[in-house]
Amino acid sequence: QNKLRIGIAGLGNVGVGLVKLVNDQESLRLPGEMVISAVSARSKTRDRGIDLSGIRWEDDPVKLAISDDIDVYVELIGGSDGPARLSIEAALKAGKHVVTANKAVVAEHGEELARLAEENNVHLLFDAAVAGGVPIVRVIRDSLSSVNISRVSGILNGTCNYILSEMLTTGQEYSPVLAEAQKLGYAESDPYLDVSGMDAAHKALILSVLAFGAKPDFSKVLVSGVDQIDGVDILLSQKMGYRIRLVAEAVKNDSGVRCNVAPVLYKAEHPLAQITGPTNAVMVEGEPLGSVTMAGPGAGEGPTASAVMGDIARVLQGPATPPFGTPVAKLNERMVRAVGDG
Ligand code: HSE
Repeated sequence: QNKLRIGIAGLGNVGVGLVKLVNDQESLRLPGEMVISAVSARSKTRDRGIDLSGIRWEDDPVKLAISDDIDVYVELIGGSDGPARLSIEAALKAGKHVVTANKAVVAEHGEELARLAEENNVHLLFDAAVAGGVPIVRVIRDSLSSVNISRVSGILNGTCNYILSEMLTTGQEYSPVLAEAQKLGYAESDPYLDVSGMDAAHKALILSVLAFGAKPDFSKVLVSGVDQIDGVDILLSQKMGYRIRLVAEAVKNDSGVRCNVAPVLYKAEHPLAQITGPTNAVMVEGEPLGSVTMAGPGAGEGPTASAVMGDIARVLQGPATPPFGTPVAKLNERMVRAVGDG
């Protein structure tokens, strides 16, 4: 049987983790075999602690995306536009499957990208883009497709949750804890996206499209982050028996979909107050299900790489289905507006 040929653009934490997993595929439970044909990254010389010998190097990710020697283009560059978006579009148009961990590009251009994927009968998979190692995307898209979802909510940014819980346990101020989160590989290359709440908003928007089959207006999503929280806030909330958590939610009501991200005070006993470190937790509520909550590592090399690998394994399983579950033509039909805080 032929091996699935992969091209990887971006060799940061997640890319390195993915190369390790591919090298170790014998020990995994995959439905077939894969090989890395080519890679692309900013630095050719940086020592990443992985063996890239025998793998073709391509400087331009767009060229990599359409190369004859790949079947799946794995985009780990990041950013909502620029080379990430251009290379994904090129890959889909060239009939390549695409796997990405890039929430910004899926949140901001997911609809157009999904249309291209559907037109070309290829996979566009992004389970790693939301909640890192927690497999929430395909659970909502596939396993919960018969549930009439009313609300999706939870902790969707590992960096912010790490900051909030570490500031409490270590008594440190915001900046050194953020620096630690960057060192541990949780934060985005531009950590403003994390601490401003924007990264969680991107993820909430993706979950909202998956859960409601409807696309809220991103410009109307209300977003605040943890960058205004200091040691005194953490201490005072603790003294009153509360914990601060950055919560993202998407809620469907009669007037549309409300999507927002904000710090929330929870009683110390509340389940979300118990979520510490770079962990994410996502609750899905709907009928006739009731509610389901999934929690696990939301950021970092290993968990995110395993989610990317899971999506590549999905390509090995067979034909593509619409990236958001609901075909794009229907998403447009059901376009709803994002409403304010009401
Ligand atoms: N920077 C993100 C986070 C990585 O901290 O959650 C995972 O998407």
